Amino acid sequence: MPSLVGSEMCIRDSPVYREAGKLISSARKIFTTGAGTSYHSLLLGTYFMSNIANISLLPSFASDFQSLHAPLCTKDDILIAVSQSGETKDVKNACEAFRANNGGKIISILNNLNSTLAEKSDIILPIASDLEVSVPATKTFTNQCLLFLLLAQQCINKSIDIDRLKNAVEDTISLSHRITPSVLRSIKHRKEFYILGFGITYPVALEAALKIKEVSYLHCEGMHSGEFKHGPLSIVEDGYPVFIISAKEDKIYTLSHIHEVKTRLGKVITIAPEDEQLKASSDVFVPIPCEDRYLFPIVASVFFQILAYKLAVDLGIDPDYPRNISKTITVD
Ligand code: M6R
Repeated sequence: MPSLVGSEMCIRDSPVYREAGKLISSARKIFTTGAGTSYHSLLLGTYFMSNIANISLLPSFASDFQSLHAPLCTKDDILIAVSQSGETKDVKNACEAFRANNGGKIISILNNLNSTLAEKSDIILPIASDLEVSVPATKTFTNQCLLFLLLAQQCINKSIDIDRLKNAVEDTISLSHRITPSVLRSIKHRKEFYILGFGITYPVALEAALKIKEVSYLHCEGMHSGEFKHGPLSIVEDGYPVFIISAKEDKIYTLSHIHEVKTRLGKVITIAPEDEQLKASSDVFVPIPCEDRYLFPIVASVFFQILAYKLAVDLGIDPDYPRNISKTITVD
């Protein structure tokens, strides 16, 4: 299951990549849409574009695009559609609604280049993840996020050192021994828990929770840690597990959110770059070997892919083929 990084070689400095950057920089509004894991990648992409390139994206679930955005589209707007398969019905519907309402160009971020979505697109940015066989999207998620990061850098004519990401992903995979049987047991026995992220790590919390639900059938909810105190905090009692993901710069908020859970005797598992104060405040601390604000969310998501995999195997579930769902959802 763990993902590998591949997209950068195919797109960096290519004409199509530059063209996409220009279109994005000059559009009136930039809508972006996708489903499931692809939606989570574009949500992280929304943070990359705003934080790095000062460009606002308007994200939506593909199934919500028609209700929320389609009536407001004009020819000066663009749509960035994100899909591994290029065949997800909700995403195809969103593209059709964009066209029907006189929307402008469609840029697709795709893995399957022989797909219906590829045909509907003006520009295709391949994520180049090769064939992804397992139902859970893992390497394609990593590469979608990476592509958004590169795109944001492209908009301000900068580049990033991808080797740092490769090394941090490899180091994180080798950290997986920290997910011990006792960590797995504490989650399994509760059968439900939260994963919280703040700002740029919020999409990672959503994606981590999706992956864990998908392959372990345990109930796990991902949410923004700033929102947790506005209601859900009441669920916390002695030993209730709460994962908290924190980028280095958000430590001050994270400490406060950890405190809220610890005061109610919850069990806090913090995922962050090495930090003595966060470690001392948490029950379990997983140091992610990456301090870069933009690479950290991608690397942290790999940790949760491994956690989901280990939980599934521990529960006797085949993580590649969870029940009830298929790789590509071609219905409304
Ligand atoms: O092929 P797509 O990226 O359009 O698929 C969208 C979702 O169905 C997909 O990302 C799904 O959430 C994942 N397979 C879950 O791991």
